[in-house]
Amino acid sequence: MTNIETTYMGLKLCSPVIIGSSGLTSSIENIREFEKRGAGAIVLKSLFEEQIKYEIAHTASHQTSANYYPEAHDYIANYSHNHRVSEYLALIKGAKEAVKIPIIASINCITADEWTSFARKIEEAGADALELNIFILPSDPTMGAEQNEKIYFSILEEVKKLIKIPISLKISYYFSGLAKMALKLSWAGANGVVLFNRFYSPDINIDSMQVVAANVFSGPKEITISLRWVAMLSDRLYCDVCASTGIHDSEGLIKQLLAGAKAVQVVSTLYKNGFGRIDEMNAGLRAWMEKHGYKNTEEFIGLMSFKKAENPAAYERVQFMKHFAGIE
Ligand SMILES: Cc1cc2nc3c(=O)[nH]c(=O)nc-3n(C[C@H](O)[C@H](O)[C@H](O)COP(=O)(O)O)c2cc1C
Repeated sequence: MTNIETTYMGLKLCSPVIIGSSGLTSSIENIREFEKRGAGAIVLKSLFEEQIKYEIAHTASHQTSANYYPEAHDYIANYSHNHRVSEYLALIKGAKEAVKIPIIASINCITADEWTSFARKIEEAGADALELNIFILPSDPTMGAEQNEKIYFSILEEVKKLIKIPISLKISYYFSGLAKMALKLSWAGANGVVLFNRFYSPDINIDSMQVVAANVFSGPKEITISLRWVAMLSDRLYCDVCASTGIHDSEGLIKQLLAGAKAVQVVSTLYKNGFGRIDEMNAGLRAWMEKHGYKNTEEFIGLMSFKKAENPAAYERVQFMKHFAGIE
């Protein structure tokens, strides 16, 4: 019997396919469907601090001077804040009642204060783990790498003090010393790192001369950045690695598992190809395991990681010398 179960941050998953944080994971109906189709876990849509702040500002701007009282503003601000949080907590509770697979909550905050209360409430609501979606764009030339990185550690330390459920950090590759940064996060007690988040990217429309959103969804070719780093880091960190970005089919899933990911997250492929893609990915994984004689995922997870691959230098090569030789 081919068994596609895996473990991620101590959680037992029936499949290594995790549904990544997105609009798809904000409804109980979808969450039920994901479980039915064989998803291993769900990362809920992130609770954004910016979103909460926007709501507060928006509500306040509708006040006319005749009925505006500072106390009223405080009340509205508090209400909006609590309302959002309570909706999110209801989503966690609802998801936990609706399905058996692990529910991973996700928060995107930029201040340690906000994290503190959110994280505790999220644990109390029953989340099985918490994914911290932190991205500080290192665009301020007065801030050095160390100053930017310090924020990640203070957030992780703060949250770790408050909750006992596993914590993962979903990070980007915008670090000057990515390998050391990931290693230090694992030393600091992260139970998992998600490599990598894919952000909103700006583009320029040359006719309207406006800044517009670049491709919202990834394509399968985008798997390569995450694949390299999963392979390079998976057996060097003191925590699990989960792959994200550009995993669109069972082939992408298998590559990431071979590179050492304990699980993968998928989003764009579900938007583009429908939820049936989850069944296809699991079926493709099973078929590949049968073909290669693997009964369990532990038998091959990490077989192609940096330390175990026959030619690990290939992961470190950055110049095209050999390839250009035949083309140029
Ligand atoms: C419409 C949409 C909404 C997203 N919302 C979130 C979010 O709330 N929190 C988060 O951490 N990532 C969010 N993401 C990023 C995805 O979780 C994922 O990291 C990214 O899309 C790369 O994976 P993919 O190649 O499978 O799409 C979103 C992505 C999309 C396309």
